[in-house]
Amino acid sequence: MAKQSLPLSQVYKLIEPEPVVLVSTMNGGHSNVMTMSWHMMVDFEPPLLACVISNGDYTFDIIKKTKECVINIPTVELAKEVVGCGNTTGRNIDKFKKFGLTLVAASCVRAPLIDECYANLECKVIDTKMVPKYGIFIVEVVKAWIDRSQKNPKTIHHQGNGVFAVDGKIIKLPSKMK
Ligand SMILES: Cc1cc2nc3c(=O)[nH]c(=O)nc-3n(C[C@H](O)[C@H](O)[C@H](O)COP(=O)(O)O)c2cc1C
Repeated sequence: MAKQSLPLSQVYKLIEPEPVVLVSTMNGGHSNVMTMSWHMMVDFEPPLLACVISNGDYTFDIIKKTKECVINIPTVELAKEVVGCGNTTGRNIDKFKKFGLTLVAASCVRAPLIDECYANLECKVIDTKMVPKYGIFIVEVVKAWIDRSQKNPKTIHHQGNGVFAVDGKIIKLPSKMK
């Protein structure tokens, strides 16, 4: 076998298929946004997602308190801003201002939508049982928005250490999965 042992610390780089997203929140009158790549769908309808948010993040404190967020899906055009939002904390700065992101009022939550992202999912936290052990928040998408004028949105997918795959070729096969 030509394969080599892979250090366990590198496993996450193989298992990160979901798009990198921006999680926006509102704490009193203070909005914030952080980058997140560790998340997964857990149900179709209502759509449920599991989000891993470190307890060192300002976002963790806000979501724990407000039980709300918006998951904004950026395309490759926003890649620099996405990394910027993941390298800085909103405890010290206004990331919307710093990275030139535009807030739009959401309809079902107080957390804002990010206008520059091609889709926005307004979410409410419905289960915090796995937060103490894993930092996993289960959120329900209560309202979803999409910019249908973007015909071929290229999302970005984290491969670790600042390396990202950009959505590419699409193939269609007779899969039974919806
Ligand atoms: C590409 C990328 C992916 C990230 N994914 C996650 C993640 O899934 N969960 C997490 O807790 N932090 C993740 N981070 C780190 C947070 O975005 C980072 O700690 C950020 O500074 C938190 O901001 P805040 O303190 O304003 O909440 C990621 C950062 C980058 C650059």
